[in-house]
Amino acid sequence: MNERLRRNPRTEAIWTQLNEALAALSTSTGRRELDIVDVGGGSGVFAVPLARIGHRVTVVDPSPNALATLARRAAEEGVGDQVTGVQGDAAGLAGVVGPAGADVVVCHGVLEVVDDVSGAVTAIAAALRPGGVASVVVAQRYAAVLAKALAGHFADARRLLDDPDGHWGRSDPLPRRFDESGVRALLTGAGLRVDEVHGVRVLTDLVAGSVVDDPAEVAALAELEAAAVAHPAFRAVAAALHVLATKA
Ligand SMILES: C[S@@+](CC[C@H](N)C(=O)[O-])C[C@H]1O[C@@H](n2cnc3c(N)ncnc32)[C@H](O)[C@@H]1O
Repeated sequence: MNERLRRNPRTEAIWTQLNEALAALSTSTGRRELDIVDVGGGSGVFAVPLARIGHRVTVVDPSPNALATLARRAAEEGVGDQVTGVQGDAAGLAGVVGPAGADVVVCHGVLEVVDDVSGAVTAIAAALRPGGVASVVVAQRYAAVLAKALAGHFADARRLLDDPDGHWGRSDPLPRRFDESGVRALLTGAGLRVDEVHGVRVLTDLVAGSVVDDPAEVAALAELEAAAVAHPAFRAVAAALHVLATKA
């Protein structure tokens, strides 16, 4: 596999943080193979690699097309028997996995689009076993303000800056965006303990694809991104926040 395919600077930091959480959970539970639910897991960008490292993964997603791609990708990667796709909604998770059935719930890039965000987070908490971990990635509001302004969409940038939630209920909604205090309050309100919050996709989303077109540049961007993710000054403007939270 070439370097371009092997490294993905946008998701490397998320994988590093998630792998550390999985390793700690395997140690505390004494089980190497964990039960993971990937809510809104789509075509399996995270689910299939998680199965490949030995976990059982259930993807719950409303999109039949995404689930079909998931099944194909899992079969191609030789993990068809470890990945189950179920058509469903985040807020209805309990009906799919049952209460306290999961060691880990992955919810990446989904809370921006669900109708009922607090219902979704409550369902995620209910699906976790005590000591289980939620891995949540959400798009961050301040980065979206910068991106809108740089694209010349000044009115949208102003709406995002002034009004964290109000834009969602409008007839011309922008996707929901979060800030750190908001996502912390959301998860804590559902009974989860927030252990870690990382800013991710700090620089990768600002870099045009056309300037990263050989493996050495991909590797250099990945190294730069890793350094920026570790730098607290960038956290507030990272394109996304990766939160790890534990069910008490
Ligand atoms: C941006 S994609 C993220 C896919 C994947 N989690 C990832 O990180 O690559 C958003 C996913 O959320 C799914 N989705 C949309 N509404 C949902 C809902 N109410 N409950 C669960 N998933 C939903 C979409 O079908 C899509 O697969």
